Order: sequence, then structure tokens, then C-alpha cells
Amino acid sequence: MRSYAWLLVFGLAGCASVTPDSAVEHAYLVRAHGASLIARALVRSAQCPAMIVDGQALPLQVRAPAGEVPARPVAQGLTKPARFDLTVCEAALPAGAHSARVGPFALPVPVSAPQRIVVIGDTGCRMKQSDDAFQPCNDSAAWPFARLARSAAAQKPDLVIHVGDYHYRESPCPAGQAACAGSPWGFGQDTWTADLFEPARPLLQAAPWVFVRGNHESCARAGQGWFRYLDAAPWVAARSCDDPANDAKAAHSDPFAVDLDGQARLIVFDSSEQAGAGEVFAREFAQVDVLAQGAAHAVFVSHHPVLGLGLPGKGVPIRVASKGMLSSLQAARGGALFASPVDLALHGHVHLFEALGFTAGGTPTFVLGNSGSMTEGALPDQLPPGAGAIGEVRLDAFHTRAGFGFALLERAGSGWRLTEFDENGAAALVCMTSAPSLHCDRAGQRPPSH
Ligand SMILES: [Fe+2]
Repeated sequence: MRSYAWLLVFGLAGCASVTPDSAVEHAYLVRAHGASLIARALVRSAQCPAMIVDGQALPLQVRAPAGEVPARPVAQGLTKPARFDLTVCEAALPAGAHSARVGPFALPVPVSAPQRIVVIGDTGCRMKQSDDAFQPCNDSAAWPFARLARSAAAQKPDLVIHVGDYHYRESPCPAGQAACAGSPWGFGQDTWTADLFEPARPLLQAAPWVFVRGNHESCARAGQGWFRYLDAAPWVAARSCDDPANDAKAAHSDPFAVDLDGQARLIVFDSSEQAGAGEVFAREFAQVDVLAQGAAHAVFVSHHPVLGLGLPGKGVPIRVASKGMLSSLQAARGGALFASPVDLALHGHVHLFEALGFTAGGTPTFVLGNSGSMTEGALPDQLPPGAGAIGEVRLDAFHTRAGFGFALLERAGSGWRLTEFDENGAAALVCMTSAPSLHCDRAGQRPPSH
């Protein structure tokens, strides 16, 4: 009898460590440095499940346990503790894997180098007391991110780049505002689910993602969720934004390179914290040059635009989006801007579409911060006299579009082709780069060249 009792106890303990499929609520692939891929799963269980890779079980490890982070002071009004209900689990996906599954989720394991790259940015539903800005989160016309994510997934991308600003629900919906009534707010799991994981589900299941950190993911805002869910580096408590005393350690992350193929790579840059960042950025821009070495084509990707235009404001019709980024780049390069092999720059932060081409010394630039969050105004189709330069370099091409949208980026000849779609998947513009300039046509005007 005693041996049977021991078997019973052993058997129950064994069962308790198995995570049921139903506990896995989200699973996705994160691109990290080089060619590496990280599988992540968000699980309603203290234990992590196994990932099934080509039929073999590979245990996921706890990246960040579930728990509650005490309320921290915020700039935009009310605050409360951030509750993270789900355990974040992860493991590196072995090179050469053909299939991978976590619970009910088949992960989008790439079969070849990415050719079709979807780019989105600034996607969450704005609820911000200090600006009295409350986007109707329950209205898919006013906050179309879920529809846009389905349209982008229908493009069958091989890779998705999100240029930052995922989380926007910082303040409670005011009483009597039906359009956002019932929405979660604050920095915990429920808002991340509502702003990103639920609406983005089809796109998270379509391809691996490159996650870029936006200013909404700084430590003073949604940085805790950024480090738990999206940052490509290992999670450590001292660099988690959980304790404000450690914010300086988590304010910046080193740039890293994501290989696209033997020819091209992305350089991913954390611009989220702009205050007092001049020296840090100058050092990191020098790292960008090292990361780009050896590539034929390199794409600089950051949330804040370096050579981009911001919206009119305070009596200034047109302004440079981030003077700090521009001066830091020039400080790192003795007054110069990007140089070969960096032949394209992708950004967000400004909630519209911009395509900018330059004379010698510039880099073709796209601003793609129009994928769901509340619009903030528009730029004129024709720039006024005097707005033809950014820093030391002159603009020679400028296209803008004010509606919601996403982009599809592909290599084309010696440059890049970027197609801008509306949130329903209708192509609006086709742009061809030829560094340092570019040219855009309305979609359908000219067949895209190959
Ligand atoms: Fe932003």
C-alpha cells in the first residue's frame, strides 16, 4: 500500500507541473540581435509550458513572474499599482527549426529570409487625462487598430516592425463618456491586452516582430510592460522600470542589428527617453556605424524621427520632429549625418505618413506613426517656403498622408519599395527610394517596378 501511496503523490505532483493549453493566452516570436528568434508565451499559470519544436518538447523558462508593481508617480494624473496577471515565458527558437507550437498557438517560424516587411507604429487607444484626450476605444472607426492588424496580416508578411508607442490607456475613461466606457487603464496586463495583444493577435500570428521602444514605453509610462513583454534582451529586475530608483539603468538600451539576409540588416535604436540623452545618443550613434559595417544595405529604425518633420505648433508652421536626435547624430559623426550603408530610415511618433527624400547627405526617410492612435493634425501637401531643409540637408521630395495606415517594405533593385495602405488594406501610395532621395506615386498610377 505504501508504494501505491507514493506513486499517487508523485503522479499528482507531475500533473500539477503540466501547464494546460488553455492557460496559454498569447504566444509570439521576437527578433533579437543577428538572426536570433525568441519565442514568448503569456500564461495564466506560475509554471511555463513546453514549446513543441519539430515534434520535440523544449521547456520555456520564466522570463518575468506574475505580480503587482506598486503605483509609481506619473505625469498624467491618476495612478495605481500595475497588476501583471500572466507569467511571461520564453526560450530561444533553435536555428533551423521548421515548426513550433506553444499550447494552441502555432508560431510563425520563418522558412526563408524576409522579403515582405509590414511596418506599423503608434497603435494604442489614447486615454490621457492631462491632455483631456480620450479616443473612442470602442469605436472601430475611431480606433481601427484591430481592423488594420487584420489587413496587415492579409499581406502575408515575413516580418513585422512596430516603430514604437504600443500603450496609450494611461488615465481612466471619464464618467459619462460612452466611447471609452469600461476600458482598462494604467500600466498592467489588462491595458496591454486591450491596446496590443488582443487587437494585434492576427499580426502576431503572421510573422516574427521587431519591437522598437517608443516614448510611451519609457520608465515613467509603460516601461514595465515593455521589459516584460517586448524588449529583446533578457529581463532583469534592476532594468525593469519596476523601481523608480533604478530608472536610469532602464532609460536606454544599446542598439542592435537584425539580419534580414546576407545583404541587408535593420539597426534598432531605443530613442524612448529624450531628456538629457545627448551624450548617450551620441555614443549609441557611434555603435550604429559599427553595427552597419559589412552590410550592403542598412535600415535605421527608431521611434523618434531623425530627419523628419513634426506637426505645426506654437506659431511654427513646420518644425523638425526631434532636434535632439539630429544634433546627437551630428555630434557622433563630426557634423555629418548617416552614411552608406544606411540607405533608409523608419520612424513613428508623428501620427501620420511622411516620405522624405533629400539632396546629398540625407537618407530617405519614412514616418509611419499612423496605425491607430488618435491623429494630431496634418502637414500640408506642399511645404511652405523655408521648410525645405532639415538641419544641414535639403529636402528634395516630400509626400504626406493624414489617414490611418500601415506600410509594406520590400527590397527593389538597389533601393527599397514601400507601399502605404489604408487601414482596410487598400494601397494608397507606392514609394521607391534611390538614396538619398525617393519618389512616391498614388497606388495604381504606375506599376511597381521590380
Ligand atoms: Fe511617440
